[in-house]
Amino acid sequence: TVLVVDFGAQYAQLIARRVREARVYSEIVPSTMPVEEMLAKNPAAIVLSGGPSSVYEEGAPTVDRALFEAGVPVFGMCYGFQLMATSLGGVVDNTGAREYGRTQLAVSRPGSTLFEGTPSEQAVWMSHGDACSAAPEGFTVTASTDVVPVAAFENDEKKLYGVQYHPEVMHSTHGQQVLEHFLYRGAGLKPSWTTGNVIEEQVEAIRAQVGTKRAICGLSGGVDSAVAAALVQKAIGSQLTCVYVDHGLMRKDETEQVEKDFVAATGVQLKVVDAEERFLNALQGVSDPEEKRKIIGREFIRVFEQAQAEIIAEAPDDQPVEFLVQGTLYPDVVESGGGTGTANIKSHHNVGGLPEDLEFKLVEPLRKLFKDEVRMVGAELGLPDEIVQRQPFPGPGLGIRIVGEVTKERLDLLREADAIAREELTAAGLDRDIWQCPVVLLADVRSVGVQGDGRTYGHPIVLRPVSSEDAMTADWSRLPYDVLARISTRITNEVKDVNRVVLDVTSKPPGTIEWE
Ligand code: XMP
Repeated sequence: TVLVVDFGAQYAQLIARRVREARVYSEIVPSTMPVEEMLAKNPAAIVLSGGPSSVYEEGAPTVDRALFEAGVPVFGMCYGFQLMATSLGGVVDNTGAREYGRTQLAVSRPGSTLFEGTPSEQAVWMSHGDACSAAPEGFTVTASTDVVPVAAFENDEKKLYGVQYHPEVMHSTHGQQVLEHFLYRGAGLKPSWTTGNVIEEQVEAIRAQVGTKRAICGLSGGVDSAVAAALVQKAIGSQLTCVYVDHGLMRKDETEQVEKDFVAATGVQLKVVDAEERFLNALQGVSDPEEKRKIIGREFIRVFEQAQAEIIAEAPDDQPVEFLVQGTLYPDVVESGGGTGTANIKSHHNVGGLPEDLEFKLVEPLRKLFKDEVRMVGAELGLPDEIVQRQPFPGPGLGIRIVGEVTKERLDLLREADAIAREELTAAGLDRDIWQCPVVLLADVRSVGVQGDGRTYGHPIVLRPVSSEDAMTADWSRLPYDVLARISTRITNEVKDVNRVVLDVTSKPPGTIEWE
């Protein structure tokens, strides 16, 4: 395991992902963890992340010098680099010489452990106020910039390395190569971690945890719950029952896909609950987005609990239903407490908000994986692409994509428009380029149009294609005009009561991805 020590500000997750892209297993630990505890995990190497602080700020996070003396290879990035420098006797000046954004790095030792085979001039991403002016004793300075005399240093004997910039971000053109050089050449690690090992490991762990008891799993139609269920199914077979609540707010063919494709691929026992009427009744007359979300969440729990009671009552033996399978991912674990195991895990995932007092033990076979790794596991388990490569879709479904009251008629209309947009995006080969593309019906808005020979007074449909890495921030996707034109023409021709298609050109922030 490579430990990524988190000094805050979102960098650690990206670094952990990059390390895994190099096929070396990584985990994130908070910088407040005592060094003995980090070393007790027997790390093969340690990466110190960047962070928002200056090493001179009062109360700035720090690490015990012992970390650098344990014989474990360490790579410091940005803030981690400066900590390494000051801890080991180098000089970091609080010069106020800021450097932010894309910078040219000049490599002075092209054959060094970190930089071998990379160009002598390369673009890197900087973000710092302080600058290292002298490396600690025993270190060789291997790169600099116009502003920073020491932008990288290396000590092969002690296996300590550092760079002032952020190799983990895309703008650092050779960042991944430099990181891999640290892992393979500096720390002597082999690129051997694969998701295949994860499946074997998890299958054993699940069998040990569940024993002969039973488990249930809520399927949402999304990737995470599907892969979690498939993994648990592989481990315990018919001891698992999945529940799929059809709230009537799904997209076209989505429920059928779960019913057919998922069952065909996994052989899982599936209970589909048709609750459309119940949800639509509960949503009657409601336009406020938060209220809609609350209602959908509440009804979901009720239906799920009822299904669960039925499963327990129908159980063919007296084995108790003791476990609930959840598709919790590593970012959720990290965000709710640093992955230290003490974290209070969000339980709202996948199944749209399960009650806090749920009397189940959780089975969370994906809690060490990132989304792209979950997709790989799903593919290896034989799930079809339509499930594994599915773009994110919100638990409350189309209910929060109708601005205004949700009715069956409006849902059907939106389902048609959404299916057309998805079809054309897929046909244009754009599915992997965009993160997701909500299609929104402005049910409370009408505008004048002319269709056929007459005046119309219909509703607009909004296309909201976005690109993103994690949905925390997003940009609107610059889709080709001809694709947009085809979607627009088809929707206005084929969908009743829609006479206008508009494109949302707002990034997040300030807009969220969904409209409600
Ligand atoms: P926003 O609209 O907050 O969405 O920018 C960020 C991402 O989260 C999805 N989303 C949800 N997913 N339950 C979910 O499972 C929800 O209530 C929910 N609301 C938004 C959204 O589709 C986007 O990917």
